[in-house]
Amino acid sequence: MRSFFTFLAHNKPLKKVARKTGLTLGGSHFVGGQTVEGMVDQVKVFNQMGMGVTVDCLGEEIEGTGDAKETVKLCYNAIHAIHEHQLKGQISLKLSSVGLELSEDIAIHNMRNILDEAKDHDVFVTINMEEYRNCGNIVDIFSKLRKEYDNVGIALQANLYRTETDVEKLDKLSPTIRFVKGAYKESRDVDMDDKSDVDENYKTLVKNNLLKGNYTQVATHDNDMIDFVKQLVAEHKIPNEQFEFQMLQGMRDEKQKELVEEGYNVVIYVPYGPDWYTYFMKRLAERPANVGFTLMSMVRR
Ligand code: FDA
Repeated sequence: MRSFFTFLAHNKPLKKVARKTGLTLGGSHFVGGQTVEGMVDQVKVFNQMGMGVTVDCLGEEIEGTGDAKETVKLCYNAIHAIHEHQLKGQISLKLSSVGLELSEDIAIHNMRNILDEAKDHDVFVTINMEEYRNCGNIVDIFSKLRKEYDNVGIALQANLYRTETDVEKLDKLSPTIRFVKGAYKESRDVDMDDKSDVDENYKTLVKNNLLKGNYTQVATHDNDMIDFVKQLVAEHKIPNEQFEFQMLQGMRDEKQKELVEEGYNVVIYVPYGPDWYTYFMKRLAERPANVGFTLMSMVRR
């Protein structure tokens, strides 16, 4: 199942067709919108439920500087829409979507433009973490940008051995860090193969970051992680202003509402852009239960 959907995710002709057909196949369960209008409507729904959002400006597997510029435009549109509609929102993006694999200089140039625009409109920007081969570059570029901007954060992956050192290295910058377990399968020498090791490392990283006083984005759907953080913040009297729970759109809707009702800050990751198809196929590859949602929503149409 995983390899089937991974194959579909990377299929260029299907990607092109999906751009033309718009959000179909039940994709709207996991994707906020292909257009800025669709995204704004979805964000308003989350905001009305008491949740913030981080709009993920999708730019999957770009091929040249033209595609990178398209991602920058997508980010500008999201920033302007958040400002204009007074949405409770931030944005997220991958450095590869603004040219990291073309040249570091292009990616940094594009990020400075996005961060300037975001700063002018009071919007926070998080840099997603990607495959291990790009991890070092992403951490270094974030470091550089963090020295120039206070509206930028980074996602770090608990499945990687290097993350503990990255956190130590970044500590002097008082960074906002989004901790995730890690979505990419890497080689055993860099990636913790055992899920229980990843879970333990996740807890340790989040705990250390919170106790240092850094703002922490706890991005997980896992009850064990969530309960651990609830207990930790209660024990150490860590205020709500220092952390938030984050979940992907379409995952654990009931849990999202429950956390809001309990008084926690909850932020939903809302993917947006014409490249919805690749993101959607990757979610299906990751979790077979998501295929069920998709089939149900196709039947309901
Ligand atoms: P995990 O998949 O380990 O599941 C643990 C348990 O949680 C399950 O056994 C089940 O009990 C429960 N659970 C999980 N999903 C559920 C569901 N849908 N319904 C019911 N129960 C469920 N990755 C990356 O490499 N780079 C990045 O930049 C990001 N960014 C990012 C942002 C945000 C906001 C989130 C939430 C996630 C990411 N990720 C990511 C993805 C992340 O690395 C990871 O792959 C997924 O979040 C899955 O890990 P979990 O911690 O959610 O639980």
